[in-house]
Amino acid sequence: MAIVSPPAIRQDFPLLMGRPDLVYLNSAATSQKPEVVIETVARYYRELNASIHRGAYTLSVQASEAYEQARRTLARFIGADEREIVFVRNTTEALNLVAYAWGLYHLRPGDEILLSEMEHHANLVPWHLICERTGARIKAIPLGPDGRLEMEALDSLLSHRVRLVSVMQVSNVLGTVNPVAQIAQAAKAVGALMVVDGAQAAPHLPVDVRALGADFYAFSGHKMLGPTGVGVLWGRYEVLETLAPFLGGGSMIREVYLDRSTYAAPPQRFEAGTPAVAEAIGLAAAAEYLSKLGMDWVWQHELELVSYALKRLDEELPEVRTFGPRGPDRSGVIPFVLGSIHAHDVATALDQYGIAVRAGHHCAQPLHRKLGVPATVRASFYVYSTQEDVDRFIEALKKVRDFFKDWL
Ligand SMILES: Cc1ncc(COP(=O)(O)O)c(C=O)c1O
Repeated sequence: MAIVSPPAIRQDFPLLMGRPDLVYLNSAATSQKPEVVIETVARYYRELNASIHRGAYTLSVQASEAYEQARRTLARFIGADEREIVFVRNTTEALNLVAYAWGLYHLRPGDEILLSEMEHHANLVPWHLICERTGARIKAIPLGPDGRLEMEALDSLLSHRVRLVSVMQVSNVLGTVNPVAQIAQAAKAVGALMVVDGAQAAPHLPVDVRALGADFYAFSGHKMLGPTGVGVLWGRYEVLETLAPFLGGGSMIREVYLDRSTYAAPPQRFEAGTPAVAEAIGLAAAAEYLSKLGMDWVWQHELELVSYALKRLDEELPEVRTFGPRGPDRSGVIPFVLGSIHAHDVATALDQYGIAVRAGHHCAQPLHRKLGVPATVRASFYVYSTQEDVDRFIEALKKVRDFFKDWL
């Protein structure tokens, strides 16, 4: 385990240091950025900025090398080959890429896509769009009352009609860590492709895409200490090679004629136009920062915080109802409701005490329907979150509870 402590880590985060009164508990939406990431992006613009992969001049070669080095760093971060790392804008774009570049060409009426009831809209809506165009249908692994997927249902849901399975590794609402390796194995057994939405997993726990046995893995830079506007789609190279392009334009071609073109090999085939160079390099700095902390430590730290917070909520705030599994398969997010008070009112009241939490359906309307609540408040932790943050959150929530006591 790395010798690190969250109060020391905080010192690397200028925004947190500049706002000592803020308790930032919305890292599942987007994380704060350490100085090294901010500085890496700034340094790129100060010292290296050039059009990549095109210029014959030294500056362009250096910028291109920095971008490709970032690809290698991200490959190492998830146990992949660098040719399998496609830089995209975010998880949403990564999943759309698979939907359009694979789904549109391979799905037929009667085919099935298997998702789960806890998916984020980013892993639902792209498939809806593809189903409308292809006649394929969606099925979903049900959510059990304990906040875990009902894995017993998998056998009856998986048949030769299922062509693709796409499931989140960690739920952005419940924190549930899904057994994606087991799901991937079952998907393979019926010949289906396996896609993993890793948006809430890659930032928080060690990921080895090969061990997961998936074909695609998607995540966003901004949730793992990196810049906005960059994310990664990992694809098994043999599968990437079979995919049609998603977006067309410069950089992704081999030869272009007036009436047709041929395409570059992956990953370039999927990186049309000028990429987010500074952001990709900044994301690599974020991955290196996380690797130095140690992803095992990151995960342990969140487990400790979430179990401490849940214990205090259970013991001291009986009016609060939390959701999600209890156990080691639970990441650092706590969704809750306070009696019948609307989640937005609770979040706005918490803000009066400097507590930044998110309220709403968290881009998971089907999940909230299943939970039977229109919205939840969500507190989420990350590497810089401390026990003191949890204490301040609980004390503020008690005051909010007291304020609303006549309406609970
Ligand atoms: C599980 C999950 N999937 C996908 C996304 C979409 O990520 P982005 O908005 O970065 O594309 C999110 C973001 O909240 C998420 O939590």
